[in-house]
Amino acid sequence: MSIRTMTMRALAGLALAGSVAAMAQDGFAPPATPEEALAMRKALMREDGGILRSAGELSGAEAIAALEKLRDNYSHIPTLFPEGSIVGDSKALPAIWENWAAFTAIVDSGLATAEAALAAAEAGDAAAYAAALQTLGRSCGQCHQQFRG
Ligand code: HEC
Repeated sequence: MSIRTMTMRALAGLALAGSVAAMAQDGFAPPATPEEALAMRKALMREDGGILRSAGELSGAEAIAALEKLRDNYSHIPTLFPEGSIVGDSKALPAIWENWAAFTAIVDSGLATAEAALAAAEAGDAAAYAAALQTLGRSCGQCHQQFRG
């Protein structure tokens, strides 16, 4: 086995451990079929839209709960786009799997921004919170522009 293969396997193991931890945290179970993946990601995206629309009005514990949900949702995005899941009325573009690293990089930066918004909410820093929400909104658009038809 080459070093590269071993590294890839170790990374895959880590990713798996990470998703198991996420599952334990918020009860998330990965989709079993492409149709289920489509339904789950549509529901998740709509929920994120609702959170982002209302989050600006929130503060304290409510803001923290909203941003925790958004962060958890973001962490599940890659799992909800298994290859071969352009089914039904999906607007997902094949570019997602051709540029998987770019796709997941947008997810990762969104995750970091959600963490920043969460920290700002916890610290009661309204300006940093508002700024992080704006950046988050741009991450939705950035991904849709590249990866949604
Ligand atoms: C990493 C990429 C990515 C990010 C980040 C992302 N989206 Fe999406 N979104 C997609 C793709 C791809 C689709 C199309 C899914 C499909 O139809 O299979 C989609 C679909 C949607 C839909 C339509 C759902 C439906 O019912 O058809 C909404 C609403 C949406 N996203 C909102 C958001 C919001 C709000 C955010 C940010 C908080 C966000 N998305 C972040 C990739 C992304």
